[in-house]
Amino acid sequence: MLKEENIRAAFGEDWPITCLETTDSTNLRLKEKCRAGDHRPQLLCAESQTAGRGRLGRSFLSPEKTGLYMSLLLPLPGDALPITIRAAVAVCRAVEEETGKALSVKWVNDVFFRGKKVGGILAEGVEGLAVLGIGLNLKTPEGGFPGVPIAGALETDASRERLMGRIAFHVNAALKEGPETILSDYRQRMFLMGKTITFLQNGQEKTARVLRVDEAGGLVVFCEGQEEILRTGEVSLGSHQFLEYRQPQ
Ligand code: BTN
Repeated sequence: MLKEENIRAAFGEDWPITCLETTDSTNLRLKEKCRAGDHRPQLLCAESQTAGRGRLGRSFLSPEKTGLYMSLLLPLPGDALPITIRAAVAVCRAVEEETGKALSVKWVNDVFFRGKKVGGILAEGVEGLAVLGIGLNLKTPEGGFPGVPIAGALETDASRERLMGRIAFHVNAALKEGPETILSDYRQRMFLMGKTITFLQNGQEKTARVLRVDEAGGLVVFCEGQEEILRTGEVSLGSHQFLEYRQPQ
């Protein structure tokens, strides 16, 4: 069972920390707490999730022992750089510090190690605050990652409690850090730079070349003779695995 005091020792802040044996989704539980009136910055962790949620309505496989599942309730950043970009950088920094493994990022905030997606981040709004859910595959579970060929694991024996605490530390620090240094770190890790990608726009598959990440974390691409900025959604390197890109409202 996860121990609050071990997570706190690695985090170094006196925020409330809740450790659950199992739950449906740490994001759902933290949103519920927030809606019930608890608006304090805090951390909620679980050994396993029965209905772990990913971006764009997908699920996130969350078995016990092999993965890390945590959510943070946080204020939104005060500038244009989205919390998702900050969180991606923070997770990479924390994992590198604890495991020595170099991580990269696929826009917007999928965390990759040696060509495999080993972690994801799901940011959701609640009561004017952000719930930031982080999932990391530390080991490959028995049976692998069925139906998700891109998924992999860090294959690390690092302590989950320490990792949770250090991730919370780096996320909190990244919220206070200026956007320039976060962006520079993010741009170095973002492995789609210069690559040809595909995405769906209004039901149509589009192909584009990635030019850069702009000041607000948007993906600037060259598509059908002109520059376009993708603000949210997902892009793919292989045409068989693209998913919907939603136009900003
Ligand atoms: C993604 O890859 O699309 C995002 C995955 C986010 C998974 C984490 S695990 C902890 C938190 N609780 C959830 O239900 N989802 C996030």
